[in-house]
Amino acid sequence: MSKILAIDTSCDDTSAAVTDGLVVLSNIVASQNQIHEKFGGVFPTLAKQAHQENIEPTINLAMQVAQLDWSLINAIAVTVGPGLAPALEVGITQAKKLAIQYNKKIIAVNHLEGHALSPLALNHSRKRGKQADTKVNLPSLAVVISGGHSEFILVQQLGQYQKLGQTIDDAAGECLDKVGRLLNLGYPAGPLVEKFAKKGQASKFSLPKAMTMQDNFNLSFSGLKTAARNLITDLEKQNKLDQQTTYDLAASLQEAVFGQIIYKLKRILLSPNLVAGTYPKRDFLDQIKNGQAPKTLINEIWLGGGVAANINLRRKIRQLLEKYQEQSGKKIQLKVPYSKKLCSDNAAMIGLVAGLKYSRNEFAKLDELDRKPNLTI
Ligand code: KG4
Ligand code: ZN
Repeated sequence: MSKILAIDTSCDDTSAAVTDGLVVLSNIVASQNQIHEKFGGVFPTLAKQAHQENIEPTINLAMQVAQLDWSLINAIAVTVGPGLAPALEVGITQAKKLAIQYNKKIIAVNHLEGHALSPLALNHSRKRGKQADTKVNLPSLAVVISGGHSEFILVQQLGQYQKLGQTIDDAAGECLDKVGRLLNLGYPAGPLVEKFAKKGQASKFSLPKAMTMQDNFNLSFSGLKTAARNLITDLEKQNKLDQQTTYDLAASLQEAVFGQIIYKLKRILLSPNLVAGTYPKRDFLDQIKNGQAPKTLINEIWLGGGVAANINLRRKIRQLLEKYQEQSGKKIQLKVPYSKKLCSDNAAMIGLVAGLKYSRNEFAKLDELDRKPNLTI
């Protein structure tokens, strides 16, 4: 096994973790939510400043919680992208400094790969024998739904990824946050949309489900955001935006965002040739009603990213998988991160990826390590 000290400063959370293979020994996150709340989004220069203040205490705490001495750390891992350039810079600079100070190898990690693999993390505090899902049954489909990304990624081998689709504009979490801000829910609004939606009726307002006419696995949330904004403006003008209406709007918004994800997910499962990215035709889907759904090559779905914490989204995916099993006879397992902290931005997921890279000898050169704000998977 390889013990990794991992750092993530890609956006607005300063995080450091220690991992041992897939086991998380510590995972410390210093949130900046309070700083960015008044702007309703992340303010890059303030994020950089807060990262600079928090980075050393966060790393020290991660080492302390893991109860490890630097001599036992095999490598230092750091997120190089995607993310905000000034924020990424803080983590990279610190990782380089530590690598020189303690004479450690350095591993560059893609933040998206971290979210994709986060459901594989194992909880240190539970006995290993009791861990439910230690076996990985590939191929899997990684579904990364966060404030910055919404992507479907086919994983045939760990470290080899094929993107099947992604949002063409806003991310799902971004849409929840922006509409939530119009409803004065606070920042980030995603968790509050979930809370409010529980008291509301999703059928109360019909918001558009985009991309159903597009024969591909991409998503789009910006039209939905505009439709929701217009609806809220109208309700405000008519003085109808009372508490119950806000609950109903939250439920309807969630339904539209998650409805689109489920719609595309279903088509991914029913694709006649997923590796070629073939989108299933309508007449082909009609046959499936007769219980003849094709068996997909996907064995597991890994749900990661901040929005993966949402219970309603998890339930909807489980329902889809149950229905798919009835139609095809194939059982697909849904894996989610073992804690909410592992869903949103954190360094433990970076450590997991680094552990795999360590075993493949994929190290970065110190003088070449640099920010990659637009890195893709
Ligand atoms: O993964 P993350 O921390 O940051 C990015 O890499 O983007 O995701 C943050 C996003 C925010 O949009 C936040 O509103 C959303 O995840 N989020 C949720 C929930 N918890 C966090 N969205 C819906 N339901 C939740 N329970
Ligand atoms: Zn993220």
